[in-house]
Amino acid sequence: PVKRITVPQIAARKGDVPIVALTAYTAPMAALVDAHAEVILVGDSLGMVVHGLTSTIGVTLEMMILHGQAVMRGSRQAMVVIDMPFGSYEESPEQAFRNAARVMTETGCGAVKLEGGARMAETIRFLTSRGIPVMGHVGLTPQATLTMGGFKTQGRDQDSWPAHIEDARAVAEAGAFSVVVEGVMEALADRITEAVAVPTIGIGASARCDGQILVLDDMLGLSGRVPRFVKKFGDLGPRADEAIATYAAAVRDRSFPAADQTYR
Ligand code: KIV
Ligand code: NA
Repeated sequence: PVKRITVPQIAARKGDVPIVALTAYTAPMAALVDAHAEVILVGDSLGMVVHGLTSTIGVTLEMMILHGQAVMRGSRQAMVVIDMPFGSYEESPEQAFRNAARVMTETGCGAVKLEGGARMAETIRFLTSRGIPVMGHVGLTPQATLTMGGFKTQGRDQDSWPAHIEDARAVAEAGAFSVVVEGVMEALADRITEAVAVPTIGIGASARCDGQILVLDDMLGLSGRVPRFVKKFGDLGPRADEAIATYAAAVRDRSFPAADQTYR
């Protein structure tokens, strides 16, 4: 069996060749990503991408564990990171440990990710000092959309930069081995990358981050509307539509199944 990429290996990528990260939620998609990426994130974006929720607020620990297990089965070399969902870690360091330990033991994943800056530092220190590797997530934090009033690019006002930089620094100093920087002005992302000793993984951030991540379905062209920061590297949505339409027509005109697909 191939050994998976470790936390120290990711942490050592600061200022090095950029870390390739993508989300995945199922075993077959994890297998595709595993061939090319160092990190597979089982993001709570699965609530919207897979389950049709309008935000990540309704995602449960059970959903994360179920998809985490599938992604672990489908991959063999990448580090699998699983998002802690809304409500599973914010109450106290003890609550966070109890639920993160469930995620770790029931999936065998390599790390968990949780949203929040300075306010989560105590919890991150509690987890990392007890054997749970943590990836941070600062800037635009989707679990806070209700309090933020939507998905808003962060750092448009330069007065807010010190607080954002302090958030990233607090997360890193609390023991996070890397930190996702989402939806921030490019120059702020660069300042954050300079300010922290661990790799930054950008999404809607800057090419100078130490790595990049995208939601797999978005970059494959499987999602409808996507944020400006998503580049569609594929066009699978229209191609799937075409295949399904062709199937429907073949069923209706009885050209499917043909000789090749029937047992005679
Ligand atoms: O849930 C998710 O997919 C994420 C990434 C976009 C960073 O948190
Ligand atoms: Na997430």
